[in-house]
Amino acid sequence: METQILVTGGTGYIGSHTVVELIQAGYDPIILDNFSNSKRSVLEQIKKLTGKEPKLIEGDIRNEKVLDRVFQENKIEAVINFAGRKAVGESQVNPLLYFSINVEGSIVLLRKMKEYGIKRFVFSSSATVYGDPGYDCFTESTPLSPINNYGESKWMVEEVLRRLVQAEPDWKVAILRYFNPVGAHESGLIGEDPSGIPANLMPFVSQVAVGKREKLRIFGNDYPTRDGTGARDYIHVVDLALGHIAALEALNKNDGLITVNLGTGNNTTVLELVHAFEKASDKQIPYEIVERRPGDVAAYYTDPTLAKTLLNWEAQRDINKMCEDTWRWQQMNPQGYPED
Ligand code: NAD
Ligand code: UD1
Repeated sequence: METQILVTGGTGYIGSHTVVELIQAGYDPIILDNFSNSKRSVLEQIKKLTGKEPKLIEGDIRNEKVLDRVFQENKIEAVINFAGRKAVGESQVNPLLYFSINVEGSIVLLRKMKEYGIKRFVFSSSATVYGDPGYDCFTESTPLSPINNYGESKWMVEEVLRRLVQAEPDWKVAILRYFNPVGAHESGLIGEDPSGIPANLMPFVSQVAVGKREKLRIFGNDYPTRDGTGARDYIHVVDLALGHIAALEALNKNDGLITVNLGTGNNTTVLELVHAFEKASDKQIPYEIVERRPGDVAAYYTDPTLAKTLLNWEAQRDINKMCEDTWRWQQMNPQGYPED
């Protein structure tokens, strides 16, 4: 029988790509999602892609009754927890929402897992836990000092997991710190579908290219980087999804806690990304330089060594491929997923 993996937030951006890779690797993913930031039609797209529609339970990760049902009706062996909220600005305005969904949600889930004797957990953390340490290349031992409530919520869950594993060493936990996930599945069937005006660079650029937005505003060109614009370690979402499978497999071998950065080890400036997107789409991306965005860091990227040694994983897809796949998804789905 295929191994059943509970994927919370499995209809979201990273979750849906991971569900596809799980199915293709022979796992049986079971999705728990409340559709607060995703659409039901994702499931049909996953079916088109893999030939299999994963089982779905609709509900909130904080709802103990729903979790009882999930764990009673299935033989879950591990949980990947993508469910959560991720907008920095919103987290500053509504901290209670962030601590409730991201922190309380994870704790309720872990408590229920323990009740059912399930002790394998993969957690979506973020490079944002490092804050702005004053240098660009982050290893897993770079000190953590998040600078917003979203980052704090990730740090808190990490802390809970560190203490849990210390007290109960039979847990197997992977904390994965993502750098900047972008791109889409190369089929163009699933991708990122932000609601409203995208806060992040790649979806904004892509909407300018397709004519949905007039021009890109580049937040500052006086940073100490190659061309003065901010530099990031963009990682293709399919590489990221594969990183989760590698983490699940690593957990079979390691007891306790592993903490790993998932990025490429390269960095791309805003202007370099714009030019790569122009090449991929054969469109011009009009832009203007405006003030720096408050809270932005000049540059950061991962040291990918630990991911290679511990997970036997490294990112394969470069920035051109990230732009090509984003563009294919954007063209095939100019309005994103259809409304439910
Ligand atoms: P997303 O919003 O596309 O996916 C999150 C999914 O969780 C959505 O389908 C949403 O409906 C669901 N969800 C939200 N709250 C829920 C709840 N209380 N109960 C059940 N389901 C709920 O986001 P994503 O980009 O796929 O991110 C997935 C995870 O990775 C998040 O935890 C996010 O913080 C983390 N992360 C994302 C990024 C990024 O840039 N995308 C970077 C670092 C870390
Ligand atoms: C943002 C979040 C971070 C999250 C990350 C990954 C903030 C402050 N940080 O980081 O917590 O983990 O996304 O999804 O929101 N840019 C423009 N114009 C735009 C948009 C972005 O010039 O319209 C620039 C930014 O200044 C930055 C780069 O593009 O230099 C990348 O921005 P973005 O995609 O928002 O990611 P991060 O800032 O790394």
